Amino acid sequence: MKLSTAMVFVLSLGVSGFALAAEDPFDAAQDGLSAGHPEGEIIIKFSHAAAPDTPKGQAAERFKQLAEQSTNGQVRVEIYPNGQLYNDSEEIEALRNGAVQMLAPSLSKFGQIGVREFELFDLPYIFPNREILHRVMDGEAGKSLFRKLSAKGLTGLAYWDNGFKQMSSNRAMHKVTDLTGLTMRIQSSKVLEAQMRTLGAHPQTMALSEVYSAMQQGIVDGGENPVSNFYTQKMHEVQKHLTISNHGYLGYAVIVNKKFWEDLPADMRDALTQSMNEATLFERDIAQKENDDALNKVIAANTTEVYVLSPRERTAWHQALLPVYQEFENVIGKYLIRSVGYAAAQVKKEQDAARPKGKSSTNK
Ligand code: LMR
Repeated sequence: MKLSTAMVFVLSLGVSGFALAAEDPFDAAQDGLSAGHPEGEIIIKFSHAAAPDTPKGQAAERFKQLAEQSTNGQVRVEIYPNGQLYNDSEEIEALRNGAVQMLAPSLSKFGQIGVREFELFDLPYIFPNREILHRVMDGEAGKSLFRKLSAKGLTGLAYWDNGFKQMSSNRAMHKVTDLTGLTMRIQSSKVLEAQMRTLGAHPQTMALSEVYSAMQQGIVDGGENPVSNFYTQKMHEVQKHLTISNHGYLGYAVIVNKKFWEDLPADMRDALTQSMNEATLFERDIAQKENDDALNKVIAANTTEVYVLSPRERTAWHQALLPVYQEFENVIGKYLIRSVGYAAAQVKKEQDAARPKGKSSTNK
């Protein structure tokens, strides 16, 4: 099915070791960040990999406004988008060393620091829709994942959305076998590696900032991302085909250096927490629309053919990817995987209770 602009909104309804720091990280943070700034002003360097006009980029700006306002200028937030300070493999180490204070890495990037449970979010087709996803993030599963970060010297402040991922390449991809032999860029995640292998493709880990030129030069044939990243990284200029597969999810954990955070004055930490909560509501509110708008722009650019998997094709992709669950259930934890089914059952129960008797919901 070829996609028209008018179909976009319909789609949106259906989408279901570090190197240890040589000195105390907090001291390093203070040394590096307060220099040249008015006494008492705290600088939060917020580094991230996406473009400013993505859901994450816009929410970072919103957080900056709210944080500076609510602390009467005692806190200044400096935002560094597009991985301009650090790439994927360096940024968490930079946070631990105190060279930056805040990051929002994709949930796929925590496996590389040994918190493999986060790869729950990479399991293909695990979240039928955002409502169930948010239940998991905001419930006991999300909290338990944040507790695991603590042992790494990190504090999780919020979960932010991007969206469901779509597959792109220079070859049309309708059937699973269409991916055979393609070299596909992935984020650093063992589950994503297995996903691409299971589809017959060769996974290639790479920072987002390098993907455009890798696609242009044919170092990779394709990749996967929500359309907001696909469009803002201009991948439509170098990818002939985009398949709306919604085969996986990409979201973020906003994290800070634990010691930096705990050493802040309590009233300042409260104000920043409140600002983060508001920025999170804003972020989740705009994420779907930003992805829909980006898809419209890709279609308007007319350089990439957009194809939507039919329900039958989607089921075939889902079936083909089931072995990935078996491979990773012990690494991720059965209890975490089960929490998604539990959240889905809760949502369904609530929807059924809210309906006139005799009508059942489908969770979609
Ligand atoms: C990617 O590397 O593809 C994404 O994690 C980038 C991002 O931060 O959205």
